Amino acid sequence: MSDYHKVYAAWQQDPEQFWAGAARDLEWYRLWDKVFDPYAGQYGQWFPGAQCNTAHNCLDRHVNAGRGDQTALIYDSPVADEKQSYSYRKLRDDVAIFAAVLRERGVAKGDRVIIYMPMVPAAVIAMLACARLGAVHSVVFGGFAAAELATRIDDAAPKAIVAASCGIEPGRIVAYKPLLDQAIELAAHKPSSCIILQRPMIEAEMTPGRDHDWGELVSAAKASGAQADCVALKATDPLYILYTSGTTGEPKGVVRDNGGHMVALNWSMKNLYGIAPGEVFWAASDVGWVVGHSYICYAPLLAGATSVLYEGKPVGTPDPGAFWRVVSDHKISALFTAPTAFRAIKKEDPAGTYITKYDISSLRTLFLAGERADPETIKWAEQHLKIPVIDHWWQTETGWCIAGNPVGLGALPIKYGSSCVPMPGYDIHILDENGKDVPTGETGTIAIKLPLPPACLLTLWNNDKRFRDSYVTEFPGFYSSSDAGYLDDDGYVYIMARTDDVINVAGHRLSTGQMEEVLVEHPDVAECAVLGIADDLKGQLPAGFIVLNSGVTRDPTAIEKEVVQLVRTRIGPVAAFKIAVTVKRLPKTRSGKILRGTMRSIADAIPYKMPATIDDPVILDEIAAVLIAKGLLTGG
Ligand code: COA
Ligand code: AMP
Repeated sequence: MSDYHKVYAAWQQDPEQFWAGAARDLEWYRLWDKVFDPYAGQYGQWFPGAQCNTAHNCLDRHVNAGRGDQTALIYDSPVADEKQSYSYRKLRDDVAIFAAVLRERGVAKGDRVIIYMPMVPAAVIAMLACARLGAVHSVVFGGFAAAELATRIDDAAPKAIVAASCGIEPGRIVAYKPLLDQAIELAAHKPSSCIILQRPMIEAEMTPGRDHDWGELVSAAKASGAQADCVALKATDPLYILYTSGTTGEPKGVVRDNGGHMVALNWSMKNLYGIAPGEVFWAASDVGWVVGHSYICYAPLLAGATSVLYEGKPVGTPDPGAFWRVVSDHKISALFTAPTAFRAIKKEDPAGTYITKYDISSLRTLFLAGERADPETIKWAEQHLKIPVIDHWWQTETGWCIAGNPVGLGALPIKYGSSCVPMPGYDIHILDENGKDVPTGETGTIAIKLPLPPACLLTLWNNDKRFRDSYVTEFPGFYSSSDAGYLDDDGYVYIMARTDDVINVAGHRLSTGQMEEVLVEHPDVAECAVLGIADDLKGQLPAGFIVLNSGVTRDPTAIEKEVVQLVRTRIGPVAAFKIAVTVKRLPKTRSGKILRGTMRSIADAIPYKMPATIDDPVILDEIAAVLIAKGLLTGG
C-alpha cells in the first residue's frame, strides 16, 4: 500500500503546514515569518523572513552531525580514466577553500559567477562555493558554442567565470578556453576574472591579468589557511540562474531560490526517490542541465546521500556496459537518466548481454525523465534490469518532479505512457484554449494552479515581464507548462507534446525558433522552417527546410552544409542539427503561416488531414518528393 494519497491529501488540506514540516528537516539561521507570502514576488514566495545557507545544509550540517567521513561525491570518468572519492568533510573543506578563492577575487553575496565546465568535481565545488558565499551561479553546458555563452554572459553579467581548459567527448578533446575567450570577446559585459582549471589533455593559454590558474589559487589559499564560512542568506535570495530554451533565440534565465529549493529537493529524495542517508544515488546527466543541478549536486547532498558524477556516455565509453560497470563499482541504489540513454544502450546491446556481466543487485529503481519515455524502452529496461522503471515529468522551471511515482511513499501501479501522479505542491489541470478544464481523458494544455510549490522558479533573471508573459498570463491563476497532455480516471498524467516550438533532442531542450534565426542569417537563405522530426535514438532531431533567395545559382548541397555548420558555430554541437533540406517553397496558410505541423507529419510519415486553409496543396507533394530524394523518407 502506498501512502501517496494520504500524503497528497495532507498537502491539499494545509499546504503551509505540509511544507513547514518538510522545512524542519533542515537547519535555518532564522525561521520564517510566514511559510508562504502570496503577495511577494511574481506569484508569492516561500519562507519569507527565514535565513539559511544551502551549502551549509549540503555539507557542514552533515559534518557537524558526525558524518564527515561518509562519502559525499564519487567522480568516475572513463574518458579521463580517473576515479575520486570525496568525503563530506573533504568536500566541505574544498568548497570552503574555493569560496575563499572566489572571495579573494572580489566575489560577494549577490554577484553572479558563470561556470563553464565539463563533468569534473571542480564544477560541483564551484557551484557549492558560490552557494556558500551567496553568489549566484549560472552553469553553462559545455556543448554550447561561444555565441550562446556570450548571450548568457551579457544577461547574467558575472563578476567571475570559472572554466576548465577542456572537456572530453568520445573521440575528441573539446578545448573550452578558446570558446570562453571568443565568448568574452563577443559579449559587451567583461568579467573581472576567470579561474581556469587546467586539465592535462589540453592546457589553456592564459590571458595575463584576467585569467588565474585554479590549482595555483587553491594551493595559495590552502597555504594561508583561507576558508570562507557560510553566509546567512534570505530564503528568497537567488541560489542560481539556469538558462533554458524558450521560443525565441534569447534563452530564459530561470531563477531558483535558496529556502524553498532545499526544502522540496530534500523532501523528494526520501519520499519520491526512496533514498536514505548513506545510500548512493546516480543522476546520469550533466551539471549543465537542471537534472544535474538538482540531482547530481544539491538534492543527494541535502539528503546526506552519496552522489555520483560520471564523465562518460552510456555507450562507447567504452561499451554499452558502461552504466552497469558504474552501478556495480559504486553500489548504486537508484539511477536517474533520460530515456535516450537507454535507447542508445538497447541499440548496441539489444539482448542485454552486458547487463549480465556485472553485479547490479544494489540497484532498486530506475528513474527516467527529460523526454517522453516510450513504452518499448521502459519494457526493455524492466525485462533486463528486473526492477521498477519509473517515468517522471519535470521541467527546468520547476527544478523537481511535477508528476511521478513516489517510490519512497510506496510505489503506485505503473501505467505505460504515463508519468504517474502529481507530487504534493502541484495541482494539475488540463485546460482548453479558454482556460476551462477539459473532461478526463481529453487532451489540453497542462497547467498548474498557482502558487507553484517550493523549488519552482521565482522569476526569469532581469525579466519579470517575460516570466509573466511566458507562464502566468495565458491562463490567469495558473502556470502554463507549454506541455499538452491529459489525465485519466485515476489522476495519472500523460505528457503528449509541447505546445510551443521547443523540441527535445536526446533529452536536451532546444528552440526551433532559435535555429530558424540562425538559418536566415545565411546570405542565400530567403526563409526557412525548423521542425523536430521523430528519431529512434534521440526522440527528436531538428530538420531545417530552407528556401533559397531567387537568383542563387550555387549548389544547394553546399549551402545545406554551410547552414549545418552555421548552427554548430552559433548554437553548438548540442543542437545536433545535421539535416538541412532545400525546398522550392514552404507550405503556408492563406494568411501566410507556415504549416509546420503538416510538414512534420510528412517527415514522420504519419497520416495527416489536408489543412482547410492551405494556400497551395501541391507544395506538400514537393516537400515529400525532396525528402524521398534525400533518403529521409521512404516513398509510398
Ligand atoms: N561538451 C562539448 N560537446 C558536447 C558535450 C559537452 N559537454 N556534450 C555533448 N556534446 C556534443 C556531442 O559530442 C555531439 O557532438 P557531435 O555532433 O560532434 O557528435 C553533440 O554535442 C550532440 O550531443 P548528444 O545529443 O548528447 O549526442 P551524443 O551522440 O554525444 O550522445 C546520448 C547521445 C544518447 C548517448 C547522450 O545524449 C546521452 O547520454 N543522453 C542521456 C543523458 C542526458 O544527457 N540527459 C540530459 C537531461 S537528463
Ligand atoms: P527541460 O526543461 O530541459 O527539463 O525540458 C522539459 C521538457 O521536457 C518538458 O516540458 C517536456 O516537454 C519534456 N519532458 C520532461 N520530462 C518528461 C517526461 N517524463 N515525459 C514526457 N516529456 C517530458
